[in-house]
Amino acid sequence: MHAFIPFLDVYTPIALLITIAGFAHKVGMHVVRLSRPPTPGLAINLLDAPPKLGWLAAAWDVLSFPVTRFNVRANPVLVWGVVFYHMGIITIITGYALSTLLVCGYLAFGLPIPDVSTGIPVSYNISYSNVFAIIFGNGEPLQSMFLFGPLAGAFRLVTWLAVLSALFGNSLILITHILGRGGAIVGDIDKAAKKIRIKGMFTASHLVITLVVYTIIWTEILSRIDAVHGIVYLHSVIGVTLILMMPYTYLFHMMYFPVSIFYAARRRRERCIA
Ligand code: HEM
Repeated sequence: MHAFIPFLDVYTPIALLITIAGFAHKVGMHVVRLSRPPTPGLAINLLDAPPKLGWLAAAWDVLSFPVTRFNVRANPVLVWGVVFYHMGIITIITGYALSTLLVCGYLAFGLPIPDVSTGIPVSYNISYSNVFAIIFGNGEPLQSMFLFGPLAGAFRLVTWLAVLSALFGNSLILITHILGRGGAIVGDIDKAAKKIRIKGMFTASHLVITLVVYTIIWTEILSRIDAVHGIVYLHSVIGVTLILMMPYTYLFHMMYFPVSIFYAARRRRERCIA
């Protein structure tokens, strides 16, 4: 597993550069779209216009309405998978973000960090492989003690629950995509759509991404229980690969979701959506 160390040291900077280029392209396209004249909104003198919704109510509507009105009735297995998976992944990513900030703080002040390959708690090993093994291995005893001190136990407990939730949810997502049930309608949505069924479809990109995510969850679990020595480096390689895929696949929503919620909530607020 330690063979991944030299690979990670070369792969990480290249992957991060390609990721930054992807983000710059996506954000650039967004800015270009914003610079075009806006489409006319709701007429402001509409007779009996319904009152504007509050931002929070509109954002909640955006998130919950399509799910309760449509998705959960159409394809409950996928929806419960997505819900459990997101409860897990959002907690785990928050932990990674916190760990990144803490490690960057240590590096900025020239303070020592642990060396994951040797298990030494005080070192100046600032290679990509070591920094990423600290961040992606934040659930392991050495790294969590370094990052969170007396709160390490609580951090590990909370993130264990998150990992199990992600595993359960992702298994449901994986089953859905293996069976080609993405976009399927397997139950009645409402009276008007009674007995309407759609088989769903198989999409290779969904299956590949879900498999990558499934593997990353398992490497996280195996590194936490220390079942395979050094597996944290494989975990980091897959983690960096997910970062690399983010701007180029639907995983972009991991970063873009506040922007899309903002626009969707604005439309609901103005009652542009029935
Ligand atoms: C408004 C918020 C969000 C919505 C509506 C949303 C919705 C979705 C949906 C519908 C899928 C696809 C499931 C599938 O058919 O395969 C998905 C996948 C995914 N989401 Fe989100 N998501 C949101 C926020 C986030 C956030 C904040 C993160 C992480 C920080 C995240 C991480 C992921 C990942 C990693 C996958 C891939 C899972 C897989 O395919 O195995 N999402 N999300």
